[in-house]
Amino acid sequence: MRIWAIANQKGGVGKTTTALCLARCLADLDHRVLLVDLDPHGSLSRAFGIPAEPPPKGTYDLFDGGKIADLARATPHPAIRLLAAQAGMATLERRSATQPGLGLSLHRALQEARADYDYALLDCPPTLSLLLVNALAACDRLIVPTQTDPLAVHGLEGMLRTAAMVERSRKRPLQRQILPTLYDRRTRSSHDTLERLQQLPDALVCPWPIPVDTRLRDAATLASHPRHLGGRGINAYRDALQWLLETQQPDAQEAAA
Ligand SMILES: Nc1ncnc2c1ncn2[C@@H]1O[C@H](COP(=O)(O)OP(=O)(O)O)[C@@H](O)[C@H]1O
Ligand SMILES: [Mg+2]
Repeated sequence: MRIWAIANQKGGVGKTTTALCLARCLADLDHRVLLVDLDPHGSLSRAFGIPAEPPPKGTYDLFDGGKIADLARATPHPAIRLLAAQAGMATLERRSATQPGLGLSLHRALQEARADYDYALLDCPPTLSLLLVNALAACDRLIVPTQTDPLAVHGLEGMLRTAAMVERSRKRPLQRQILPTLYDRRTRSSHDTLERLQQLPDALVCPWPIPVDTRLRDAATLASHPRHLGGRGINAYRDALQWLLETQQPDAQEAAA
């Protein structure tokens, strides 16, 4: 199983949309996908129609020894399963003060589920929190959706610094890549920011920016519509996925086997 964290310490940059669209595109290629909602706000879970109340079973239960096999739920797409967000996730920070080892709960749970999925996509919260640290400790690749807006580039720098810090402590390489999002080719600032991002090394920045597309605005439709989706936005995600698959580093565990 490959584990991709979709993270940026800035909100509203397209993390949840990216997780959802990449999951759909991977499922279209017949991969088995686990979507993990790590954001206490639960936008991904809401997109799948899972209400916050009564609390669903899901991601928080992993921190009490729960197993993905018991907690993941079916979605309208046969190849996609979901671990839903739970309000209790917001209390983890407090628990971590008295309970060491919580930083690796997600890693442990995903390792147990390795054989059940081809990909796990982690939709991260926009804050530097225990949940984000769990995602960065567990993943083999970090995808940073970055809005093509001059201010958003600051969020990117913070995210890359956090990734470097976690990489040092986990002693395992963490491939990181940037996916330009919300690209509006009619605006100068979008164009200039994309150019600035594209000056970073090749393998780091996806050459296919995700355009602004109103069809991507409705996460509930993306989540529930079972048939093949079309449109500029989803097609850009298909191209981005192709690039992600082409630039994927060998799986350390598969290589060792
Ligand atoms: N490419 C896009 N085109 C149009 N709207 C988008 C696009 N990507 C995201 N959005 C919208 O922008 C808002 C923020 O996106 P979201 O994926 O929830 O970001 P995050 O998870 O980083 O907070 C949402 O309303 C979403 O529907
Ligand atoms: Mg989100």
